[in-house]
Amino acid sequence: MCDSCKKKFYITTPIYYPSDKLHIGHTYCTVATDAMARYKRLRGYDVMFLTGTDEHGQKIETRAKSAGITPQQFVDNIVTGEKGVLDLWKLMNISYDRFIRTTDDYHVAAVQKIFKKMYDKGDIYKGKYTGMYCTPCESFWTESQLKDGKCPDCGRDCQPAEEEAYFFKLSKYAQPVRDLLTNTDFLEPKSRVHEMVNNFIDAGLEDLCVSRTSFTWGVPVDFDPGHVVYVWVDALFNYTTALGFMNDKYDDYKDFWPADVHFVGKEIVRFHSIIWPAMLMSMEMPLPKKVYGHGWLLLDGGKMSKSKGNVVDPQILADRYGVDALRFFLLRSFPFGSDGNFSNELLISCINTDLANDLGNLVSRTVAMVQKYFGGTLPTQQLISEEMDSELTGMASALSEKYEKQMESYAFQNALAEIFAVISRANKYIDENAPWVLAKDEANRPRLAKVMYNLLETVRICAGLLQPFMPATAEEIMRRIGAERYDWESLCVYGGLKADTTVTAGSALFPRIDAAKELEELEKLNAKPEEPKEDPLPEPLPPICFDDFCKVEMTVVKVLTCENVKKSEKLLKFTLDDGTGTPRQILSGIAKYYKPEELLGKTLVAVTNLPPRKMMGQESCGMILSAERGDKLQVVMLDDSVPAGARLV
Ligand code: MSP
Repeated sequence: MCDSCKKKFYITTPIYYPSDKLHIGHTYCTVATDAMARYKRLRGYDVMFLTGTDEHGQKIETRAKSAGITPQQFVDNIVTGEKGVLDLWKLMNISYDRFIRTTDDYHVAAVQKIFKKMYDKGDIYKGKYTGMYCTPCESFWTESQLKDGKCPDCGRDCQPAEEEAYFFKLSKYAQPVRDLLTNTDFLEPKSRVHEMVNNFIDAGLEDLCVSRTSFTWGVPVDFDPGHVVYVWVDALFNYTTALGFMNDKYDDYKDFWPADVHFVGKEIVRFHSIIWPAMLMSMEMPLPKKVYGHGWLLLDGGKMSKSKGNVVDPQILADRYGVDALRFFLLRSFPFGSDGNFSNELLISCINTDLANDLGNLVSRTVAMVQKYFGGTLPTQQLISEEMDSELTGMASALSEKYEKQMESYAFQNALAEIFAVISRANKYIDENAPWVLAKDEANRPRLAKVMYNLLETVRICAGLLQPFMPATAEEIMRRIGAERYDWESLCVYGGLKADTTVTAGSALFPRIDAAKELEELEKLNAKPEEPKEDPLPEPLPPICFDDFCKVEMTVVKVLTCENVKKSEKLLKFTLDDGTGTPRQILSGIAKYYKPEELLGKTLVAVTNLPPRKMMGQESCGMILSAERGDKLQVVMLDDSVPAGARLV
């Protein structure tokens, strides 16, 4: 069938922030999307699988600055550089049809037009933003949304932000979005609907700040220089610009939009199920058919970003165990819609149990027996079936239907469980039929041939349905069992393998791993001392005006006395000459860095117009200035020739 006659299927992954190396958690969603895309292709769809990178925002600008390169160079290194995102997807055999970078010119120009269209419509207006901003998540929060004063998504500190900004009338779309979530299957799994409606919509949906002026690494608002488009607006529209929406680079928007499904991690469901449909409503564009919010891979119940003793680098894991084993493990071990605990131990046990023992053994024993008893080619003579075949052949015949049901609801783990139930049954069938006993009597050959055929055919159906998960392994198995057809139709009917098929032996598909030894090796890998890294630059603060700066009184002071504060490991107590004639007392938390005698008589700088505050029961009138980065700190010290009382200007 020609592509234009086929049914279309458009699936996307979130586009990745190229700010850090991708870990196995990032790989999870892309592997799942790839499995779904391959499954749909197997089903005869014309598939568009989009992935890419989300390259703008303050976090990238800051990282690039710390690295002393431009933001573009910074993202280029991570996306196209050695062992970058593109290399990782190639290694993981990700069959994406299109890769978008939000720094691509066509996307930038399209986002400008989209922003202008919403502005012209009156859905974007100019105002002033005051609130909190989480730079790592590129998210704005109101005070009431913070959890214990921290970002509710990532738990990190937020910075106060105040700036002139454009706002999107999110509140205007609260009701239609609520209806969408509660009355349709737009968002799945259903558990996420409740969270979105209760925590965000019913808690009061405020208009969304959609431009920034305190940094420049973003899509410029072309009708108001100085503003860049909020990175999430820029990012979300990638799903449409990558098809040619408001640009000439591609022209399949009509064919593929609306998307059939966006796969997204649970922490970005809010953006995809509230902000995204609201903006599409504003643009009067069709809504995606579904957003599926998958769970997270966790380490010891916590975030994966710090490796905590497990190797989480997909490149290392794929090199050690093979790409297909890693892909399989991810989708076999964790229910897609919920969180799962990742560990190297679990990975090794999954490879040993399912792949080496069950699948690997079934294939190698079957092929070896066909070679041993029939010289590699099954005879075409009349074969003898027996009653005891029916359980296995029944399971193999019914497999595609059960598998389809699970795949259509994104239950990868269950789909694989169905396949492995059949693989297990086939291994049991070998033991029940004991081909090595049948082989002793020439009269049993027709029966022995039937047993071997049933095994090979079961292997064909199972390997055929494993194609979306382990494409290279499935292909290799088909080669070994001599299968010529393994398209969807042939997998739905038992008996698709030629009667006189010829098998080919090969090395173990999945060699057994000595778990104890391997875990020791991984531990050694992890114990390698990390390259000493410079402490990252602190996040930039929002700009202040010159008048605000002038309000800070910075005075040169001479240290008259300095001593440790009793019962405090941190504090030093200073008496200072600040030029007024009255000694000033300041307490400063720098005892870890200086002995009192090192500072006696020195000329320092203090902020002298702060209100007095009590520390360990003693009054402190001001603050001594020091410079700090990571675990290094030095007080600001001047030449002794500068008189006490001089002001810093
Ligand atoms: N750039 C945004 C997405 C914009 S889409 C218009 C983003 N990028 S990300 O790089 O931070 O995350 C990409 C995806 O990886 C997200 O779906 C996120 O949930 C997923 N994962 C990151 N860590 C993960 C795990 N430990 N486990 C599973 N997926 C996780 O968000």
